[in-house]
Amino acid sequence: MQVIPIDAGSGRSQVVVGAAFGEIVRFLPAGRVLVITDDTILRLYRSELPPHPVLSIGTGEEAKTLETVKSLYESMLGLEVDRSVFVLAVGGGIVCDVAGFTAATYLRGLRFGLAATTLLAQVDAGVGGKNGVNLEGYKNLVGTIRQPEFVLCDPWFLRTLPESEVVNGLAEIVKHALIADPGLFAFLDAHAEEALALEPEIVERLVGDSVRIKAAVVGRDEREAGERRKLNFGHTLGHALEAAGRFSHGEAVSVGMVFAAAVSVACGRLSPADYERIIRLLERLRLPTTARVDVNRVREAVGKDKKRAGDELHFVQLAGIGEAVVERVSIEQFVRWLSEASDRLHPVG
Ligand SMILES: NC(=O)c1ccc[n+]([C@@H]2O[C@H](COP(=O)([O-])OP(=O)(O)OC[C@H]3O[C@@H](n4cnc5c(N)ncnc54)[C@H](O)[C@@H]3O)[C@@H](O)[C@H]2O)c1
Repeated sequence: MQVIPIDAGSGRSQVVVGAAFGEIVRFLPAGRVLVITDDTILRLYRSELPPHPVLSIGTGEEAKTLETVKSLYESMLGLEVDRSVFVLAVGGGIVCDVAGFTAATYLRGLRFGLAATTLLAQVDAGVGGKNGVNLEGYKNLVGTIRQPEFVLCDPWFLRTLPESEVVNGLAEIVKHALIADPGLFAFLDAHAEEALALEPEIVERLVGDSVRIKAAVVGRDEREAGERRKLNFGHTLGHALEAAGRFSHGEAVSVGMVFAAAVSVACGRLSPADYERIIRLLERLRLPTTARVDVNRVREAVGKDKKRAGDELHFVQLAGIGEAVVERVSIEQFVRWLSEASDRLHPVG
């Protein structure tokens, strides 16, 4: 078991990797607890949940809305939830986001903790204290920054995940390795097949290393004024591709990382040999490395990106495997790079 502390401006948290969900009571305070989960977890794990009232939300991005939060508030009112109640979220990134936001805002803030049940939630969504919901088609537009008291990552949950969800999480692990840890990249490279097969010791090492990277970045820059931007590596194009609907988040980020790595090569920062190593690893992890990209659509999506700064955006490149640099570039420059990256992407328009 690994216990990774996070010490950030909004509070302290600890991520416990490899702890058994069956022992969740050890992490819960005495007194009333409210469990928030989703319909999939309820179907698969109802009998494993601790004996407390349970509220369930639907699944998918459509459930990540203020309407869902409002219906949780109403149920909490019905259950006479007061400030002594501890909220335990059990689920993937969507449950972590919705339950975290609900806990952070109801009665101006309840104590809460997370049991992350997807690989993506264990390595990324559950870690870092951002809790948000979508609004009018914009992702995570409304939210809070508040650290959960704990994040429990039990690899036992992952065995029921569909492969597409495993691959989604692996994309974020590759991202963490690329921006901060050549050792993690080498480990993943040496154990790609075992990672896909979710071999417990391999997964525990990957999750632990990933969390340590994100925890360190969040500890230094919780509100994304600087270094936390590195975590957006691959996400500028990734979000645009995801919004276009053909790729899942992990797949879109994979193509986005290939594009950002290609730009890094073109700018003389990354060697062609390292670029090829990145492509080969992503392919072995069954992540896409090419895409047909509609440049005009991407330009439009990037223009709407909530992280842009006027006509500019913070674009993350690699200065080697394990080292990221953030650069402010104009949206026009980004689009030019996109048009030029025709060896892997197939830009149209
Ligand atoms: N707050 C943050 O910092 C942050 C960071 C990254 C991503 N996110 C958000 O996370 C969300 C994506 O998270 P996700 O990929 O975990 O999605 P998700 O929560 O939708 O989970 C994916 C699917 O797997 C199901 N599932 C969950 N656990 C399972 C299990 N153990 N076995 C079988 N099925 C299971 C879910 O019901 C869902 O259908 C996005 O909304 C994204 O915006 C947030």
